Amino acid sequence: MPSIEVLQPVPAPIINPMKQAALTGATVDLDELALAARNSFLAELQEVGDYRALWHNEMRAFDGKPNSACVPHKWEYAIARDIVLRSACATTPAEAERRALLMLNPGVRRAPYTSDTILGAWQLLLPGERALCHRHTVFALRFFIEGAGAYTAVGGDKMYMEPGDLVLTTQFAWHDHGNEGTTPAIWLDGLDQPLFEGNFPINFQTRLMQHPDGEGKRYHDSTVKSGAEAPRQYKWADMKERLDAAPGSSIRLEYLNPSMVDQHVSRTIAAYALRVDANSRAKTRHDTCNNIFHCVAGDGVVYITDREGNTSEMPFRKNDTWVIPAWHAFTVCGGNEKAYLFTYTDFATLEKLGFYATGETHEEY
Ligand SMILES: [Fe+2]
Repeated sequence: MPSIEVLQPVPAPIINPMKQAALTGATVDLDELALAARNSFLAELQEVGDYRALWHNEMRAFDGKPNSACVPHKWEYAIARDIVLRSACATTPAEAERRALLMLNPGVRRAPYTSDTILGAWQLLLPGERALCHRHTVFALRFFIEGAGAYTAVGGDKMYMEPGDLVLTTQFAWHDHGNEGTTPAIWLDGLDQPLFEGNFPINFQTRLMQHPDGEGKRYHDSTVKSGAEAPRQYKWADMKERLDAAPGSSIRLEYLNPSMVDQHVSRTIAAYALRVDANSRAKTRHDTCNNIFHCVAGDGVVYITDREGNTSEMPFRKNDTWVIPAWHAFTVCGGNEKAYLFTYTDFATLEKLGFYATGETHEEY
């Protein structure tokens, strides 16, 4: 492997045509000598292997606007439900703890990206199934969609879930799931896993214990305390009551977690519930947050304006889920019925890192 020292000196043209073009705005017209020198230098860099010429990167990141390759996209529940239920035939009961279908953003088409920082996934647990107990540095929330008798246990405390309920599995807290009901349980998983990709190592641990069902050392007995913050469960009935009691034709309320200094549900993710009355509109948002939405009830449409100023309509119905990446302006409107939405964003992360900006403040961002 050659070292960088073997690179041949690059003959410098008397007038640097690139610099001249940058100063005058003229088209770059490299002479033969300069072109050969440039190509030779780049070829040698490639051979050395551990350097990259950054001036060959696309300049997309420097166009003056916060940007993302992710695009807005909706997963219709009418389609997703069938796919989720069919996923049962592609997994064994032993794989039940991982039977989740990631919502893949069409703009990047690779896991784990529903957005740049947060993901959404449908998870299915069949009647009688128990998922392997585990814990991880990735934070996860669950928003229950359908079923009865399913639970998430955090630190040994079982929390039974009804449609619309939100459950937090606190960072690095032992947790497992079970379905003691007679029908399939489906919920929406919200994780900050994309935030870790390429940035922080993920620590994922499983707890293997003897279980009396004879399936060997693979189940947690749901009694091991994690020592982490208290588990949190938010009942939809309580949140809906708060939404309905608030004045105005639209309202957004945050799920607050008293065990967090900033009261968000986690260090990385903030979660909210929205009410938008029929034929009414919520406040337009235009900021650096990545947003994942889920329609709990009702219907409506979201008007989304992309970075180039193009506006599109995204109609939604009950149980649809959609993503709106950072720096897309959007307005949620209620349809024929009053719309109730659940949404989670990376605001808790952006706020801490100083990356939060809005359409009004981005010039200073
Ligand atoms: Fe988990």
